[in-house]
Amino acid sequence: MNPSESRRTFAIISHPDAGKTTLTEKLLLAGGAIHLAGEVRARGNNRRARSDWMKIEQQRGISVTSSVMTFERPSSTGETLTFNLLDTPGHEDFSEDTYRTLTAVDSAVMVIDAAKGIEAQTRKLFEVCRLRSVPIATFINKVDREGLDPFVLLDEVADKLALDVTPMNWPIGMGGIYEGLFDFRRNTLSRPDKTDEHLTGLDDPRLETLVSPEGAARLREEAELALGGYGGFDLAAYRHGDQTPVFFGSALREYGVDALIGAIGDYAPPPRQQPAIPRPITPDEGNVSGFIFKVQANMNPQHRDRIAFLRVCSGKFRRGMKLKQVQTGKTIAINSPIFFFAQDRELAETALPGDIIGIPNHGVLRVGDTLTEGEAITFTGIPNFAPEILRRIRLLDPTKTKQLRTALVDMAEEGVTQLFKPLVGSQWIVGVVGQLQLEVLISRLQAEYNVAAEFEPAPFETARWLSADDPADLKAFMEGRGGAMAEDRDGAPVFLARDAWEVNYVAERAPKVRFSATRERA
Ligand code: G4P
Repeated sequence: MNPSESRRTFAIISHPDAGKTTLTEKLLLAGGAIHLAGEVRARGNNRRARSDWMKIEQQRGISVTSSVMTFERPSSTGETLTFNLLDTPGHEDFSEDTYRTLTAVDSAVMVIDAAKGIEAQTRKLFEVCRLRSVPIATFINKVDREGLDPFVLLDEVADKLALDVTPMNWPIGMGGIYEGLFDFRRNTLSRPDKTDEHLTGLDDPRLETLVSPEGAARLREEAELALGGYGGFDLAAYRHGDQTPVFFGSALREYGVDALIGAIGDYAPPPRQQPAIPRPITPDEGNVSGFIFKVQANMNPQHRDRIAFLRVCSGKFRRGMKLKQVQTGKTIAINSPIFFFAQDRELAETALPGDIIGIPNHGVLRVGDTLTEGEAITFTGIPNFAPEILRRIRLLDPTKTKQLRTALVDMAEEGVTQLFKPLVGSQWIVGVVGQLQLEVLISRLQAEYNVAAEFEPAPFETARWLSADDPADLKAFMEGRGGAMAEDRDGAPVFLARDAWEVNYVAERAPKVRFSATRERA
């Protein structure tokens, strides 16, 4: 096996409360990465206790921080596979961060609550995956409770997401009448006490001795309908993002979790080709390349360090390598790259395509950066999104101007907020995609930079990046609109608008200027 083919880099997407945290714990447990369930949460709680802004998470019971968890597990043919599980924040205000995390995975697991079906956030995240043809395996969680009928659930996934579905296993009842899961792939019955029985097939007469006669009859009838009604598993269709294999189970009770992780090992794609300019990059290329999809502060509040997360896309990375930050032309020696395990961090001596390494730095690396051994390529598809909330910041202590500036620039580098400098006036404008980010910002200003500040409304609500084929057209547009013009941190021109309606109105009257709701680092 080509070494990078041993990587399975994936994320879990779900609506809050569907069971993502629980499933993460159980996957790590099944992978031997942690020894006691509950440790992900416990660790989370320790982390949360550390600083004020994390209290927001705690109060709201949401998960804002996101991280990488790596574990190993043998494939069904005995090769060691490395699983890199990227956690995505569940709250919708952080969808920008989640979006970028999904650019760094090769596949995803979609968790659905069996009693609720497809919920709003699941659907949104699914659309992001579809945009990039990320293959999705579905886990229908909580079969230990009363849920919707399995056929209703399968049809809902198929109809609402316009996706072919294929059941990989089948629940024998749910809730009070649950008697186990039948795995179509392995002809195995997993009983609630977690013993597995191998059968010759659905018609094996032993079935009656293992579950109740009603359970056996129900399984045979439903399975026949299901196997006849939905197509069989098609590896190519799954990897292409057209079909989703569906696993029923319970994260909490560990039903179906092993089958899920086994299938990710056997079927989920190894590292894929990544879109880049001027050419896409394949994982088997000799030279190292990768992109930063996330920057996280607070990993260690004592040092105010920041970790940039690099997705390796090609080559074999070795510690101490000097890589070029294509956007600035700077060369950076990567001396202390980190691997993240469930309970530990470790110095990364080598890393392969699909691996995620954390690079501690003080603000040099930014979201969207490409690192290479020298070649001028840029990975694409890691955008900033036009903010939907714009605010001025007012200092409560006017002597802290410098600290405020540092803090705002730091947080903009993490990709949490965006900063705009109006061409007229001196007060910077902060842009965020969701309200919660504003609260996090104020709280972190206080906790980490000792800056007391509050927001003031800005006369604008949204922003668009501007460009034009002829610079004269852009200049002409900008000249008439001093008060609504600003620059982003890279000096790119931005039009600040009262609302989306104004954007449309102005854009219609300036046909030679492009108004863009996303911007990628060039
Ligand atoms: P999330 O990360 O997607 O938001 O969900 P999380 O895992 O935190 O699970 C949400 C709730 O659903 C938790 O209950 C959790 O225990 C429960 N849950 C997860 N998987 C299953 C399952 O397979 N069966 C059943 N019956 N429940 C499940 P909670 O009461 O909100 O939290 P906790 O006090 O149990 O931690």
